[in-house]
Amino acid sequence: MLAENIRDRQRRGKFIVLEGVDGSGLSTQAGRLHAWLEQETGRKVLLTKEPSEGPVGVLIRQALSGRVQGLGADTLALLFAADRVDHLTHSIIPALEKGHHVICDRYLLSSLAYQGRSLPLEWLKQINAEAIVPDLTIFISVDPVVTLKRIAEKRFKVDLFERENILREVLNNYDILVQELCEEGQNVLQLNGNRTLEIVSNEVLSKVQEYFMIDK
Ligand code: TMP
Repeated sequence: MLAENIRDRQRRGKFIVLEGVDGSGLSTQAGRLHAWLEQETGRKVLLTKEPSEGPVGVLIRQALSGRVQGLGADTLALLFAADRVDHLTHSIIPALEKGHHVICDRYLLSSLAYQGRSLPLEWLKQINAEAIVPDLTIFISVDPVVTLKRIAEKRFKVDLFERENILREVLNNYDILVQELCEEGQNVLQLNGNRTLEIVSNEVLSKVQEYFMIDK
């Protein structure tokens, strides 16, 4: 089993995850962190995201955009979990084992926060049992009114979850989950994302530096 093998292996790279509701600027922040981390550490850094670019991730994107219809919430949750295992197996774990750092735009917490709106948390955790624990998760908390405005300025089409009532529920789930994970001893940071991308970005970089005491 993937989870057992991983526990036994020494992971030399750091696994950093960014989380937040749609329109929180995760891709922008991940891109900046990627450039900075490579420069600071001189190591290779894999910048990746979920849904991934693998076969299951492609199917999920089609479901999110409405090109594929009729998948129930439980089917979608299983697809997210399957995509995660595929992504871990083919990209994340090989990179960590080579000593590369990995930055992932969304991961397990997205499944718990989004699919947790309509599905039991325990079941979601079970189907994601193979997901290794990140070294650091950064949750960027932004009000859905702000994120939906950003999305509307950038695109005409709206994806499955991009509605204010849904994103409010998701944000609320994130708040609860982040608190739980902190209590369990996981490294999870919550940043106020209702500020300019530059200010948030500087905070992301300084927190990562603090956490890993990056040696050049
Ligand atoms: P994004 O690529 O713009 O972040 O969009 C991905 C969407 O998929 C976003 O609405 C969050 C959602 N999502 C889930 O619902 N569950 C998951 O496990 C993941 C990774 C993403």
